[in-house]
Amino acid sequence: MSAQIARTQQPTTAATLRQRKVKNGGQPMAVLTAYDFTMAKTLDAAGVEVLLVGDSLAQTLLGHANTLSVTMDEMLHHVKAVSRGVAQGSKRALVVADMPFLSYGTTVEDGVTNAGRMIQEGGAQAVKLEGASPMVCDTIRRLTQLGIPVMGHLGLTPQAIHQLGGYKVQGKTPDAACQLLSDARLLQACGAFSLVLEMVPTEVADVITQELAIPTIGIGAGVGCDGQVLVIDDVLGRFTEFQPKFVRRYANLADTISQAVTQYQTDVVAKTFPAQSEAFTLPDDSRDEVLVVLKAMSANHVEETAPCNA
Ligand code: KIV
Repeated sequence: MSAQIARTQQPTTAATLRQRKVKNGGQPMAVLTAYDFTMAKTLDAAGVEVLLVGDSLAQTLLGHANTLSVTMDEMLHHVKAVSRGVAQGSKRALVVADMPFLSYGTTVEDGVTNAGRMIQEGGAQAVKLEGASPMVCDTIRRLTQLGIPVMGHLGLTPQAIHQLGGYKVQGKTPDAACQLLSDARLLQACGAFSLVLEMVPTEVADVITQELAIPTIGIGAGVGCDGQVLVIDDVLGRFTEFQPKFVRRYANLADTISQAVTQYQTDVVAKTFPAQSEAFTLPDDSRDEVLVVLKAMSANHVEETAPCNA
């Protein structure tokens, strides 16, 4: 059975998203990452309501081993490109900028300055922060006071990968599950407008989703969340270094690209590219004159460069 997608021409805002609870009759939202202008424009036109400029770009675009290496300036570069894509496209998607490692959580001032740059310079409409440490909570409170909407992120928080000891499912024990629920409540109380739950058992994600008034957006957290998020390069099969269990591939662009590039090379070698229609020719009224001048010049060049004893 294929579900009907309810589409709106209205721009998505953090305020409208905050209300999007499935238990209140809301349609689950399909969130995707985007990292560049063209993709942002395409996804916005396709009706994707939220574009997350994720720090996952450290891996998918930049080839780093994890997300820790990407800097504030690198993130900003991509946030600007995505914001331009939406601004020059259908203008509907909400652009959420992922705050990179150590751009927040050190002091509230750092978090405010850097989140402010994502909004002011980057053109994003919201930011995402990982975790629920006291400093992160203070930062979320301050950002929301300042009018910067914040998406939270709990469960597997990739910026804490060294502390967590790997990409493992979180919240599996009674203590860990209770901690997740209380962190989720805390982030909501601090003002977060939505919450990403990554690699959390479905049962735990379901309880958190039922408890919260703000929407949960799952990635490896089961179908009960109020929305799902995936990395665009995983969805399109463009990033093939590894495939987490929670990824579903809807295309195989790596193969498509490889086939296209092989065909291009073949055409170049066979001289079937470019065709006449893909090249430029002299205009009829100047062709003869140009060729005469060129031939004369080329004949002179042969004489000038001919060896003296020739
Ligand atoms: O960086 C990212 O892409 C993310 C999503 C996977 C939630 O944080």
